[in-house]
Amino acid sequence: MLSFFNSHKAFTGVTSPAQDRTDTLRPLKYDSHAYMEAHLNFRQHLTNQGELMLAYLQESLSQFITDAPELRPFRLASIGSGTGILDVPLVQELQTLAPINYLGIEPNSHQMDMAKAKMLDILTPTSSAQFSTSTMEAYVPNTKTSPFDAMIAVHVMYYSPDIRPMLAKAFDLLHPAHGRLLAMVAADNAQNRLFMETTEALHGFVPYLSNTYRDILDSMQITYDIDTIQAVIDITDFANNPTTPDSMMFLDFFLHMDASSLPPAELERYTRSICDAAEEHAGKLLLPHVVDAVTAHR
Ligand SMILES: C[S@@+](CC[C@H](N)C(=O)[O-])C[C@H]1O[C@@H](n2cnc3c(N)ncnc32)[C@H](O)[C@@H]1O
Repeated sequence: MLSFFNSHKAFTGVTSPAQDRTDTLRPLKYDSHAYMEAHLNFRQHLTNQGELMLAYLQESLSQFITDAPELRPFRLASIGSGTGILDVPLVQELQTLAPINYLGIEPNSHQMDMAKAKMLDILTPTSSAQFSTSTMEAYVPNTKTSPFDAMIAVHVMYYSPDIRPMLAKAFDLLHPAHGRLLAMVAADNAQNRLFMETTEALHGFVPYLSNTYRDILDSMQITYDIDTIQAVIDITDFANNPTTPDSMMFLDFFLHMDASSLPPAELERYTRSICDAAEEHAGKLLLPHVVDAVTAHR
């Protein structure tokens, strides 16, 4: 039996006035080195979401490429390509079906450097990769790379108060007849809503989850299909030892902030909320980590 959340003595009895809250909170900035470390820790060790999203994208894009033999090379762009933890194995698989012209658009230069190096290692001579260290909004299009047959956007909808400019640009750069945008967006559930709270407190806007993302597509009169990926996060170590550096790093990424800057009572509330939503399976505590795969057609 797990001693679930028995070790939270560090949190007991300490409260802070609500008005002090936002003065001391520190964000986890998406263009920082700390963000890269927290993201890699999260995706490599704690959640199976990365491998499930990769499998989904491989299957969906493989089908697209096979059904459209005229699209050679196949032009693929990634909005918020990150460290390449997902994009590199994706391109590696897709280039066995067709030459791939890939473009990664990513504002975090630390992550971009890692993605570039990994991509160069796997590219075959008939495929190519280009990178732009910018946001999608600031990206200057290049007629050599676009229009794109497909774009992916994996967990990039949460960083701006208004994602419409990013989406408008994406749909402008997609091929007018067959282009599609495959986005992975966190489902609207209690766990995923936690970082809505912290983003609102730190940045003054509520990030888009799947339901609001799809509202925006509706308002732009863009049609889409949706599949739901039922991933889980293993929070066993976190629940048993919530104050270790590893646990704090998990929280940093989960809340998109430096969790150590939370007042103790708030830290306890978030920790409890996460632990209460987890279920025990075969001696492990698993937290649902549901993500929607939304394929929008231009
Ligand atoms: C959660 S990470 C996902 C990275 C990658 N897609 C993956 O799945 O491994 C989100 C990424 O979106 C990037 N990002 C944030 N705002 C962006 C924007 N406006 N345009 C492009 N990328 C953005 C961040 O720098 C970050 O690397």
